[in-house]
Amino acid sequence: MPTYYAVIGGSRGVGLEIVRQLAANPNNTVYVTARNVEKSVHLVKVVQDAPAQNVVPLQVDVVDHRSLKAAAEQVAQATGGALDVLIHNAAKMDYANGNQFRSLTEYDSMDALDAEFIEAFKVNTLGAIHSIDAFLPLLRKGSTKKIIIISTGGGERNIVWQARLNMTAAYGVTKCAENMVMTKYAAELVDEGFVVAAISPGVVDVTGTNPSPPSAEELADLKRITDKIVKNIPNYGDNPLTPEQSVKKVLGIVHSLGPQDTATFHSVRG
Ligand SMILES: NC(=O)c1ccc[n+]([C@@H]2O[C@H](COP(=O)([O-])OP(=O)(O)OC[C@H]3O[C@@H](n4cnc5c(N)ncnc54)[C@H](OP(=O)(O)O)[C@@H]3O)[C@@H](O)[C@H]2O)c1
Repeated sequence: MPTYYAVIGGSRGVGLEIVRQLAANPNNTVYVTARNVEKSVHLVKVVQDAPAQNVVPLQVDVVDHRSLKAAAEQVAQATGGALDVLIHNAAKMDYANGNQFRSLTEYDSMDALDAEFIEAFKVNTLGAIHSIDAFLPLLRKGSTKKIIIISTGGGERNIVWQARLNMTAAYGVTKCAENMVMTKYAAELVDEGFVVAAISPGVVDVTGTNPSPPSAEELADLKRITDKIVKNIPNYGDNPLTPEQSVKKVLGIVHSLGPQDTATFHSVRG
């Protein structure tokens, strides 16, 4: 029996590596979304190199719920209406305007803060709802009924406080809301035998598949964050993981989860 996966946001970084590792098993068929399939050069290569030709790219912007419905219809036509595992990975990780790293007091203006929060909410929070909503009818017909959200310690209240992580405010607040989306769907679907869970991949160096190399400013901001985490959570480990290392652990968790684990948050850092 083939296992059907959908990875939402797999053009690069963690999502791309999830696709690559899943595709190594010829029993899997992996549907993967990107905002611009043709321009996603790393994804195009993963599709071409997949040993069993078992990766199918689809064009989706998670802000646009219609594009997710259209993708889900395409998947349903190919699989007889079923999907086994949905992995929602897409997130706004846009460093271009420098707002990604800002704390609540570091924005140039309240208008700039509003704009960043609204855009981050659309991608990180509503995006997860759009994606689960579109694929839910297929997941109901699937064999494992698994919904995984790729989350972050930066959206977990205890970790943020322990690390005194004031930076990445819009990202953290909207990823925290995404964890609540996970919990709400878990509550909605518990009687149907679903497992809905969140997994943090840890700090991962994804620069290898970035569309452009990180600027000196971006690297300095990243260092500011990791230094703070390492200082305040001494056993966290200061080396970023490679996508390969992180995703191996992420998928180990994905495979281990059963209905008894619904509504749980996991981290590859333990
Ligand atoms: N890297 C880390 O250290 C780290 C740590 C903790 C958690 N995470 C989580 O891991 C996940 C992946 O992050 P990453 O580090 O791999 O980031 P990344 O390399 O920047 O990849 C982000 C992915 O999200 C997609 N995306 C962004 N906006 C989208 C939209 N509107 N619609 C559809 N797709 C969209 C991007 O697609 P495009 O190519 O179209 O932009 C890309 O595939 C995120 O959920 C993040 O919160 C990462």
